[in-house]
Formats: sequence, structure tokens, C-alpha cells
Amino acid sequence: MTNQVKSKKRVADHGEVFTAEREVKAMCDLVKDECERIDSRFLEPACGNGNFLAEILSRKLAVCKRLYKKYIPDYEKYTFLAVSSIYGVELLADNAAECRERLYGIWEKEYKAVCKAEQNEDMRKSIRYLLQKNILCGNALSLMQVDEQGNDTYQYITFCEWSFVSGSLVKRRDFRLDVLLRENEDNAMQFSLFADSADSSEFWDYDAATKAYIPKPIKEYKPIDYRRIWENE
Ligand SMILES: C[S@@+](CC[C@H](N)C(=O)[O-])C[C@H]1O[C@@H](n2cnc3c(N)ncnc32)[C@H](O)[C@@H]1O
Repeated sequence: MTNQVKSKKRVADHGEVFTAEREVKAMCDLVKDECERIDSRFLEPACGNGNFLAEILSRKLAVCKRLYKKYIPDYEKYTFLAVSSIYGVELLADNAAECRERLYGIWEKEYKAVCKAEQNEDMRKSIRYLLQKNILCGNALSLMQVDEQGNDTYQYITFCEWSFVSGSLVKRRDFRLDVLLRENEDNAMQFSLFADSADSSEFWDYDAATKAYIPKPIKEYKPIDYRRIWENE
């Protein structure tokens, strides 16, 4: 069992007490089907060193192995999908880095075991890039990115949506987390009063049919092979 506390100071300063494995597993069991759906999106707003995200990734990768281990291109693609749908925000830089390393380690161990001679470095680079983009140092209360000391910067937390468009091509769209979290009409209207711009159309498209506000991406990228996503930067 891993230690649940790093230091008394960190507990006092940041409420840093990690969840024990038994509780993590029991809580994931409550949403067992979602944890086993490869493309199911999870965001943990105070993810620490990734106890929950590691368990979720392990469960998704077990499904990838069971369904796709006989055909490596499919196995690679579905493990990409599994990693790309896991997101975390963490205040402390060392925890966020530990979380990325841990998720990478879980993915790589499985990758080596399943793909053997068919492993490739582009796939490794892609998964590292995904984790760099999906596990962010931020303040889950202010929804701003933080610096190495955990202080808010002036940059919003921004997440990438990764979606396969055809074959091996994946499309990246970047969204501000504060916009995603205010996606209903009332919140969207309210948000526009406080936003940098008074014009809420900068952040949402209004869908008259469903009378819903749909968050707009702040940036879209051209579709690219999932093994070369870093080239779009
Ligand atoms: C109780 S621990 C839980 C960690 C992890 N979720 C787990 O269950 O093992 C809370 C975590 O939230 C982080 N944290 C505290 N305030 C935060 C904030 N405003 N935004 C993001 N993370 C925060 C701490 O650094 C710590 O890693």
C-alpha cells in the first residue's frame, strides 16, 4: 500500500491526503461500466498523483487488451483513445508530474507486453504528449493555470478534446474549462456578464432547436495521425 500522506505541512496547506487503493477500487466499482468503456471521459479536479486516474486507465487498458490484442494497429489506436479521454487538474507541480509518469508507466507496461516486436517510438511520444496536455497544473476553484508555486497565473485551464474523425486521423479542439463548466443557458448568460468580453457568442453557439448553449472551442487543429499528434503544436 502506498503512503497516503507526504508531510504534515502538505496536509495542512493543501489537504493532501491520498485515497487508499481499497477505496479507489470500491468507488470505481460504483461506475464500473463507465470505467470499462474505452472512450468514456473522466476529469478529476484535484487528482493528486493519480490514484483514481491510474485505476480507471488500468481498467480501460484491460478492455483494450481483451478486445484488440490480436491486431496491433487497433490495439494502439484504442489505447490512445483510452489515455486521451482521461483528464486531471492538480495544484502541485510534483503531484501532476508524478501522475503523468504513473499513467505513462501503466500504459507502457501493457504496451510492451502486448505489442512486443511491434512497438514504436512515435506511439510512445504521442502518449507522453497526450499526458502533458491532459494532466494540468491548475487551481480547480479559480479554474486558472498555476505556476510552480501553486499560485494562479492569468491563463485559463484549457483542455484538448481528442476525437477520431476517420481511420487513424484524430482531431484536436481546445476548450476553456470555465466555459465547459457553464454550459447551460442560465450559466452562459450569467457568465457573459463577467467574461472578458461582454459578447457571450465568443464562448458559445446557441442551438435554437434544443435551446442550449454549446461551448465553442478556442482553437481547432487539422486532423492528424494519432501517432504524430505533437506535430500539430
Ligand atoms: C485529498 S487529496 C486527493 C488526491 C487524489 N484525488 C486522491 O484521491 O488520492 C487533494 C489533492 O488536491 C490538491 N489540491 C488542493 N487544492 C486544490 C485546488 N484548488 N485545485 C486543484 N488541486 C488542489 C492537493 O494538492 C491534493 O493533491
